[in-house]
Amino acid sequence: MNEVQLELNSGVTYPVIVGNGVLDRLPSLLPAISNRAAIVTQKKIGVNIQTGIEQKIFEIDDGEEAKSLTTIEQLCSAFAQWGLTRADVVVGVGGGVVTDVAGFAAATYHRGVAVVHVATTLLAQIDAAVGGKTGVNLPEGKNLVGAFWQPSGVICDLDTLETLPEQELRSGLGELAKYHFLTGDLLSEMEMKDRIVRAVEIKAEIVNQDEKEQGKRALLNYGHTLGHAIESVGNYGIKHGEAVAIGLIYAAELAHTLGRIDNDRVLEHRRVIESYDLPTVVPSVIDDQDLLSAMTRDKKALDGYTFILDGPEGLEIVRGVEEISIKETLEKVR
Ligand code: GLY
Repeated sequence: MNEVQLELNSGVTYPVIVGNGVLDRLPSLLPAISNRAAIVTQKKIGVNIQTGIEQKIFEIDDGEEAKSLTTIEQLCSAFAQWGLTRADVVVGVGGGVVTDVAGFAAATYHRGVAVVHVATTLLAQIDAAVGGKTGVNLPEGKNLVGAFWQPSGVICDLDTLETLPEQELRSGLGELAKYHFLTGDLLSEMEMKDRIVRAVEIKAEIVNQDEKEQGKRALLNYGHTLGHAIESVGNYGIKHGEAVAIGLIYAAELAHTLGRIDNDRVLEHRRVIESYDLPTVVPSVIDDQDLLSAMTRDKKALDGYTFILDGPEGLEIVRGVEEISIKETLEKVR
C-alpha cells in the first residue's frame, strides 16, 4: 500500500491511498463528526461500500450526459429528502463522472459538506478524484460549471481496475500519457501500481503549489484544449482520455508549427501515445470549424486561443495563438 499526502498551501491536507484491497481504509478517511454517509455511485460500479456508519446509496446515470446541472439538482433534492446535514459526508464511488458530480454536489449542498472519493477507474485514480476539481458540463462545453472542493481523502483500490472495461482503461492511459511530458518520467516502463502512485505524486506536487489554478496547475490540462473540444463537439462519443491523446499529439504538432520544439520531440509524443495504443487522429465526423468554436470557450482562454505547449523550457501556457496556425496544424491530426 502507498499513501500520497496532499499538503495544500491553504493548509488543507489529505491522503490518497493506493493499493490492492485498500477499500477497507474508507472508514478511517471519514471526518470524525460524520453521522451518516450519502454514497453517490452508478448501478454498473458494483463495489460493496462499508462506511461503518449509517449510509444510503444515491445512484446517478452513466456517461458524460449525467454530468449536468439536472443531475446536481436531483441529487441535492434527494439529499434534502434524506435530511443530509453538514455533520454528514458524501462518498463518491466510481469514475470521473461520479467524483466530479459527487464533489460538486458536496461543494454546493448546504454550502459545503465533506466528501471522500473511492476512485474505481484508472482515470479517476490518476486525475479526476485527486486535487479537488469538481463540476458538470453545459451544452456549450465540458466542465464549464464547477467548484474547487477538496475531499477528506481518496481511495484508489487497484482491485477495482481488474473488471474495468477495455475502453475505460484506454481512457485512463490517455491521461497517463500526459504525465510523461510533465516530468519526463518513463511511466510506460513501470508496473501499473507504480505508474498510478507516480502520477498521483506528480499531480499532488503541482496542486500543493497551485490549488486554484492561478498558474502551474494549468499544465495538468496539457492536451485538453483540443481534447475537450473533441469530446463536446463529438457529443461525448469519444472517451476523455482518448480525446486527450489526440489533443497531446495536436499540442506537440502546434508547438512544432510555432517553432517551439523540433520534430524529434513531436515523434516522442507520437511514440508514447502509440505505445498505449491510443488514437492519434480526430474522428472524421468532427468539423474543424466546430472545434475552433469550442476551443475559444475553453476555461483557459482568457485571451483568444490558449494552449499548454511544450517548448525549450518545458510546458507552459501560451495565449493568443493565431487561428491560421491552429487551422494549419489541425491537418496533422486528420
Ligand atoms: N484535471 C486537471 C486538474 O485537476 O487540474
